[in-house]
Amino acid sequence: MDKLPSATHAGAPISYADLEQVGDVLGLFTLKQPLELEIGCGRGDFLLAYAARKPNVNFVGVERKLVIARKAASKVARAGLTNVRIVHGEIEYLVERYLPAHAFQAIHCYFPDPWPKKRHAKRRLFKTGAPQIFDSLLTPDGWFHLRTDVAAYFDTILVLFEACPTFQRAAPPDELVDCLTGFERRFLAEGKPIYRASFKKMSSS
Ligand SMILES: C[S@@+](CC[C@H](N)C(=O)[O-])C[C@H]1O[C@@H](n2cnc3c(N)ncnc32)[C@H](O)[C@@H]1O
Repeated sequence: MDKLPSATHAGAPISYADLEQVGDVLGLFTLKQPLELEIGCGRGDFLLAYAARKPNVNFVGVERKLVIARKAASKVARAGLTNVRIVHGEIEYLVERYLPAHAFQAIHCYFPDPWPKKRHAKRRLFKTGAPQIFDSLLTPDGWFHLRTDVAAYFDTILVLFEACPTFQRAAPPDELVDCLTGFERRFLAEGKPIYRASFKKMSSS
């Protein structure tokens, strides 16, 4: 039985208070399976497609906007996906408190907000030190998967990962390629280019 039956079965997102009860995100799942993380999952379209294909993997989707997290959690519940938890929160705070080190076999981050103005640069998810934080969350053979429509941000992120020797760019697993996100569908319909990169962790820790 789920440790948080009311939250998950009602299709509500997991809160910090819920996480406090169970300790960390591992405590959200009764069935212990490999774990993956999506940062900024939005309305959950990617997880809906991908988690349905991978029932033997547990997924945590993190979304900072409550109204959007509620939409994602409700879709997950309607789809009957018992291997997905939507957490309402800021990824930075969750990393500090509720995401265990070396616990995730993959991290997905699709269409992160680019914050193009210089005065907003601090709000970007990808800045100096970010790949090292992802490294600390991943299992030794873990993956980081990225997609964006912003060419300049994509280039910046590639440079950040190049400076982190634990990661090597690699072709993503086949089953990932055609699982689209909500923003991606919209951008593709508008004919916008999409930039994708996957990085494989090569270290032993
Ligand atoms: C451009 S949207 C992309 C949503 C989804 N990944 C997609 O491709 O359809 C970026 C999402 O990331 C969320 N987000 C941005 N910064 C975040 C943070 N620090 N922690 C958690 N979520 C964040 C935003 O609220 C937003 O829903």
